[in-house]
Amino acid sequence: MLEVEFAGIKLKNPVIAASATPTINLDGLRRAAEGGAGAIVTKSAVFPKKVVEGMEYVKGRPTGLKPSPRFMLLNKGETYDPRLTKEGSYFTLFRVGEPYLKPEELVRMIEKIKKSVNIPVIASIAGAVDDLEEWQRLAKPMQEAGADAIELNLHAIPIVKYTNPDIVRAVKEVVSIPVIAKLMYGWEDPTELGPKVENAGADAITAVGTFGFPTMEIDVEASRILTQPSYYGAGGPWYRPVSLAFVSRLAKSVKVPILGVTGVVTWKDAVKYIMVGAAAVEVSAAIYARGYRVLGEIASGIEDFMRRKGYQRIDDFRGSILKEIVPPVKLEWGPPIKAAVDEASCDGCGDCQESCFYGAISLEEKLASVDSDKCDGCGLCVWVCPSKAVTMQRQRV
Ligand SMILES: Cc1cc2nc3c(=O)[nH]c(=O)nc-3n(C[C@H](O)[C@H](O)[C@H](O)COP(=O)(O)O)c2cc1C
Ligand code: SF4
Ligand code: SF4
Repeated sequence: MLEVEFAGIKLKNPVIAASATPTINLDGLRRAAEGGAGAIVTKSAVFPKKVVEGMEYVKGRPTGLKPSPRFMLLNKGETYDPRLTKEGSYFTLFRVGEPYLKPEELVRMIEKIKKSVNIPVIASIAGAVDDLEEWQRLAKPMQEAGADAIELNLHAIPIVKYTNPDIVRAVKEVVSIPVIAKLMYGWEDPTELGPKVENAGADAITAVGTFGFPTMEIDVEASRILTQPSYYGAGGPWYRPVSLAFVSRLAKSVKVPILGVTGVVTWKDAVKYIMVGAAAVEVSAAIYARGYRVLGEIASGIEDFMRRKGYQRIDDFRGSILKEIVPPVKLEWGPPIKAAVDEASCDGCGDCQESCFYGAISLEEKLASVDSDKCDGCGLCVWVCPSKAVTMQRQRV
């Protein structure tokens, strides 16, 4: 029921462990497989001399060493409550100074893991920005070691050159296994970037990575930056809406399969990516927050959903909502829709009145009422009302 195939690779389910710390060593790869992953993408391998051009703030870091601590999770202001994450609330995973794998380390890992797991193993590589040959030198040994595909980490460094489709072309010249381009969102329109990468020969596209952005959070009482006084990379659901929109636009512009990444924490998140056209999803931050078991939980959640809806295959709902997505200009502009308050539910708190930018709400005897002539139909009061007393109603004209 959950089986999917993309770029000739067969997966028992569409939940892939993404390239990050959970896939940085052999034990992690095994645990991802045992946790229920349909496939694994390894942590990226880089040559130690890799230049972090364009990222002044990480230039000159010592290789082989790392700051400690280097992970931080937040979902409640400056604190973190694991229960909220389990319930599906937004959270952010921050990391600083994450080490990469050396190519020879990754080769050894792939040789070993291929003997002990029977799911596809995808080798992630990251070459220097302007050295196509370096990408080739990284890719070839991964294929020889038995990798089922190569994922090009084109998203880690936020510079335009990194989306250079020539990197895809160069790697395709030297390997015969599928090549997946992992993109980041920064400057290019996915509807232009996608076809460029596809025409360069990418067999699939992973979209969309987050880790180029420097981020931080501050504890004002302690007057200090949380937790290390520096810039963090950040993953997790905070960026999922951006990624979903990116994937939906990509799905309308390319034929190659798309792997949706960023903010997949629950089965629902995975289903969302599939509904906007993804063939499978990659999971990272959720493993940091909830452990490898989350992979199997997401897969079985998708299966339950499919049974409830009567879907036999992932393809039955892949891209199911793509058709209804239109650019804002094609929405119905100026519809006769106004707010209405359910008197039985309103407790007169006044929050809606505070929020209305059009002065359309008044309060009398602890009851809100809407002046339809003033109401702009913006819909904000529906969201701010703590009693769910406001709905939007289409007026008869
Ligand atoms: C600590 C850490 C290290 C990562 N390292 C890599 C990497 O080596 N290569 C890569 O392509 N992506 C890397 N990523 C990015 C993830 O694969 C993923 O794209 C990103 O975290 C967004 O997904 P998420 O919201 O599920 O975390 C890393 C993420 C984290 C948190
Ligand atoms: S829909 Fe907008 S304009 Fe109308 S009452 Fe609510 S907040 Fe005010
Ligand atoms: S926010 Fe809701 S409960 Fe409060 S006054 Fe407005 S309608 Fe009533």
